[in-house]
Amino acid sequence: MDNNRDETEISTLGQLRADIPLASDYIYLNSCTFGPVLRSVQRTVADSLREENDEIIAIRGKEPGARFYERAENARHRVAALLGVPPADVAWVNNTTTASRLAIMSLDWQAGERLAVTDAEHLSTHSAARGLSQSRGVEVTTIPTAQPGAWIYEGPGYFLEQLDQMLTPAHRLLVISHVSNIDGRRLPVAEAVGLARNRGVKTLVDAAQSLGMFDVNAQAIGAEFLSGSVHKWLMGPPGIGFLVISEEGRRRYNPYLLPLPPDGDGLPDGSRMPAGALNELGTANYSLRIGAGESVRTMQRIGLDTIEERCRSLTAQLRAGLRNVPGIRVASSDAWELSSSVTTVQLHEGTPERCLQLVERLLDDYRIVVKYRPEICGVRIGAAAFNTSEEIDQFLTAIDHLAPQV
Ligand SMILES: Cc1ncc(COP(=O)(O)O)c(C=O)c1O
Repeated sequence: MDNNRDETEISTLGQLRADIPLASDYIYLNSCTFGPVLRSVQRTVADSLREENDEIIAIRGKEPGARFYERAENARHRVAALLGVPPADVAWVNNTTTASRLAIMSLDWQAGERLAVTDAEHLSTHSAARGLSQSRGVEVTTIPTAQPGAWIYEGPGYFLEQLDQMLTPAHRLLVISHVSNIDGRRLPVAEAVGLARNRGVKTLVDAAQSLGMFDVNAQAIGAEFLSGSVHKWLMGPPGIGFLVISEEGRRRYNPYLLPLPPDGDGLPDGSRMPAGALNELGTANYSLRIGAGESVRTMQRIGLDTIEERCRSLTAQLRAGLRNVPGIRVASSDAWELSSSVTTVQLHEGTPERCLQLVERLLDDYRIVVKYRPEICGVRIGAAAFNTSEEIDQFLTAIDHLAPQV
């Protein structure tokens, strides 16, 4: 049971928007970086921290204390329900970067072994791959997700072909984003996991950009590992994320070198331990967990289908309008199934300076918040469920005006 239910619980997109003070001052199109933390979630975090410190820590072993920690544990159940997995598969960590690192570092990498990543990964994954190569002599294979020179993702065919050719049993892990943070391309994660599994290769799916935008079912995706956080599309607090580890994934997972029950071969076996027990060491921040649970609960009350539909229609409106803006091109695929709420545009003969200037002028002249994406020298726009059609129109007017000026 969640104790601190509000009388005015958010269950519509209008109420969601009204719970974001920032939205009345800015046109905020940067949820791909951080979503604004809902006021109600801020209150939940603050109230939980106060409750824990004013009362609970003095009576930890007693009934009210037990209820408080049970509420924190319920938040794990919420995340598990959102992802369609058992709560035992969910471990709290700080953010997606840490979750992915833990999964990567849980393998006892030896020199010459191979790690595969796609070319659409977040900088934090490329950094982990470079570090692994430097300190352990691991060879990194980068799988292209689109034809060389193609500036738009045209669908899963080419990528799956490349994966089929390049992924070998010598690879130990494939890291693949569900939605790329660069241009919002949506990758065929379930097919990639199946292909990897047939070669005995484990998979880590980075779901940082898909969670909270549309339904993500980790069980159906079937990867050993799935990483994510709540501070983007789920509009939860920063500093809390999770690693989902399947039972099979937990068999050899032990990044903290815990003493574990041995399996039939005498090797430490974590498969019967909950993922939390393998990851959550020391004192935790329970108020962040409760806040994360509250943000997930809010999204579930509104409904992921409703959220996806809003994101999809705003994105369609945005891309249709962008086609009429001279001097720019849309670098994201048009089809919703191949893309997401993340749209990146490039300036004709664009330079980093011009893109940065555009981002700055949008903020200074129009109070519109978007982000520069250095990977493809573009400007990234994220249409979230709390945004409105009027805001998209205002953005289109602004970019139409500014693009020729920068
Ligand atoms: C695809 C992807 N992976 C990982 C990250 C890093 O997320 P976090 O800040 O939660 O570590 C991001 C953040 O933008 C991302 O977009």
